[in-house]
Amino acid sequence: MGIIRPMEESDLDNVLRWRNHPSIRRSMLTQHEISLSEHTDWFKSIQSDVNKYPMIYEEDGVPLGYVNFNIIPESSSANWGFYSAPDSPKGTGTRLGLSALDYAFKKLNLDKVCGQALSSNKASVNFHLKLGFIEEGVLREQSKQGLKYQDIICYSFLREDWIRKLAHKDV
Ligand SMILES: CC(C)(COP(=O)(O)OP(=O)(O)OC[C@H]1O[C@@H](n2cnc3c(N)ncnc32)[C@H](O)[C@@H]1OP(=O)(O)O)[C@@H](O)C(=O)NCCC(=O)NCCS
Repeated sequence: MGIIRPMEESDLDNVLRWRNHPSIRRSMLTQHEISLSEHTDWFKSIQSDVNKYPMIYEEDGVPLGYVNFNIIPESSSANWGFYSAPDSPKGTGTRLGLSALDYAFKKLNLDKVCGQALSSNKASVNFHLKLGFIEEGVLREQSKQGLKYQDIICYSFLREDWIRKLAHKDV
């Protein structure tokens, strides 16, 4: 298992390369190719936002994925987003997910992590369910890409789900 650490300026190149990779871009709610200046401005803008936690997942010092937690103001819940490096070995996503949940409940002291997946993104749908997220509902035709609408599926993971998972040594 690797570690979750805050994203730094030196991670900008890696994260932009991953984010613009077609296999990741098509999974996102915003799918245009991101320019370096847009990416740099985004990173600058979240530096001063106390509710945003952009993180890197790494194993043996090698960055293998990106995770973010956006805390919902005045709450102990956060929305998360993530991707594993497109060339990372199979199993990376699962380790990233488990490390991120551990970070969320232990370090950020959250009570709830929420995720959303486009219904066409079978990898993310299966991934949330494999980790133990519960489906909360469907936002019907919430996303529009070109002329095509898609549902967004909402998931959540509660602190008590995590405690149960730890008790069953399912991590
Ligand atoms: C979702 C993602 C993080 C999974 O990472 P990964 O490195 O493939 O993860 P793992 O190899 O540990 O696989 C974990 C599970 O994800 C699911 N999964 C991964 N790739 C899949 C695919 N191509 N089709 C269907 N399910 C898939 C499976 O349930 C898999 O478990 P299994 O191997 O026991 O069947 C990765 O595919 C990714 O970064 N996707 C693009 C970005 C993205 O969709 N982010 C989420 C936006 S909501």
